Amino acid sequence: MAQASSLLPPPGQPVVRLVKVHHCFGSGDTRTPVLVDIDLEVMPGEIVILSGPSGCGKTTLLTLLGGLRALQEGEIEVWDGHKSAYRSLRGLGEAELVEVRKSIGFIFQRHNLLDSLTATQNVRMARNLREESPDSEADIRDILTFLGLEEKLDLKPAGLSGGQRQRVAVARALINRPRLVLADEPTAALDEVSGESVVSLLQHLARDRDDVPERFDAVKRAHLAKLTGATPKGCTSVIVTHDRRIMNEADRIVEMGQGRIRSNVVVAERLFIYEGLRRCPAFAALLPETLYDLADKVSIKLHPSISLGPERLKQTTKVESFAPGTIILRQGEPVDVKSRFYLIREGQVEIRQDRGEGEKTLGMLGPRDCFGDRALVKREPRNATVVAAGRVVAYAFSFGELWESLEKSLADVGNFIHRFEAVYGMPARQA
Ligand SMILES: Nc1ncnc2c1ncn2[C@@H]1O[C@H](COP(=O)(O)OP(=O)(O)O)[C@@H](O)[C@H]1O
Ligand SMILES: [Mg+2]
Repeated sequence: MAQASSLLPPPGQPVVRLVKVHHCFGSGDTRTPVLVDIDLEVMPGEIVILSGPSGCGKTTLLTLLGGLRALQEGEIEVWDGHKSAYRSLRGLGEAELVEVRKSIGFIFQRHNLLDSLTATQNVRMARNLREESPDSEADIRDILTFLGLEEKLDLKPAGLSGGQRQRVAVARALINRPRLVLADEPTAALDEVSGESVVSLLQHLARDRDDVPERFDAVKRAHLAKLTGATPKGCTSVIVTHDRRIMNEADRIVEMGQGRIRSNVVVAERLFIYEGLRRCPAFAALLPETLYDLADKVSIKLHPSISLGPERLKQTTKVESFAPGTIILRQGEPVDVKSRFYLIREGQVEIRQDRGEGEKTLGMLGPRDCFGDRALVKREPRNATVVAAGRVVAYAFSFGELWESLEKSLADVGNFIHRFEAVYGMPARQA
């Protein structure tokens, strides 16, 4: 599907990019900053959670992203699938902001349904912003039915409960299958089933998946497939929520506090690094919290399945890349505070060792494997040579920092390795 692929930015590039965004309310003496120094990238198909205490700037951030408010300082770029280019929200006039808004699905707390129109008509109005299609009417009925409103199709907002109105707003936001959905507490007023329906819809628009909530019956499953099956995947959602159901399904969790981003965790990347470190003897005894902290320190905020191009690599010192054949570590090399150990993100390395009879290959390591950690613990020269078998990208951890922060536990592991080697007469770990 050529059309579908052009809707998405080039591989590895975000759909939304915020750089140094600042925002203030008020003027003169009452001028108060509400967003400070916001840098954030959102990748295609991600479900992003924005969390943080009330008043920390979540809604302000969403409204800036959606072009509902003029950008004061910094840069926001949103991928425009139809033009195949980024569109900057800087300095846009009202007419251009309206254009930006048309391509976004908003699910906001003040849902702004038109009081004089029925549920169906409210959704149809949004649908008509797009070109007419013969399937429109069935589609509108399907999405409202999926959200449990099959008996409310012809009621006006005054005849609907808060939760029902919220669901009409969801249907209206999603009817055009937007590439970007901005949602402010979309499930706050909803019961369990309706909440799950909204979450499932967002998930299945984001990517192909075969899991569906258990309580969905066959009819509901078929409905979901019909609503999301024909649409190119890659719908991205930025959702303000405290709903655990959504939190548990999120790809990225951004926590804000007092107008700043306090943490930005790509769930899959955090787990990838955590699992790699846990398999590494130097860290096996550490508590999960400590490993997660280490993971967050080297995180580059990208899903580990996204290959890192040269541009990305230039932006960070947390990962290193090596051309095929590069000798990454050399046997006999002394180590100091500047030495590093590595966790492989992409590619494979070969471990070679010379025990006085010429160099021998001991094995290969690949993604999620660590190397170079033995010298971290033993503080002895490298005991093996590590060569990049193809292009290799690896997270790099600096010895100096770890010696400072993990002094005691590394000493414990060192003693263990020492005893192990005394008993078995061989290194517990190569490289
Ligand atoms: N239109 C406005 N004028 C002045 N202050 C505002 C306006 N909107 C929000 N604020 C203030 O900006 C801060 C952030 O608000 P908001 O983005 O709504 O936070 P959140 O959505 O995280 O609760 C709050 O202190 C709020 O009082
Ligand atoms: Mg808010």
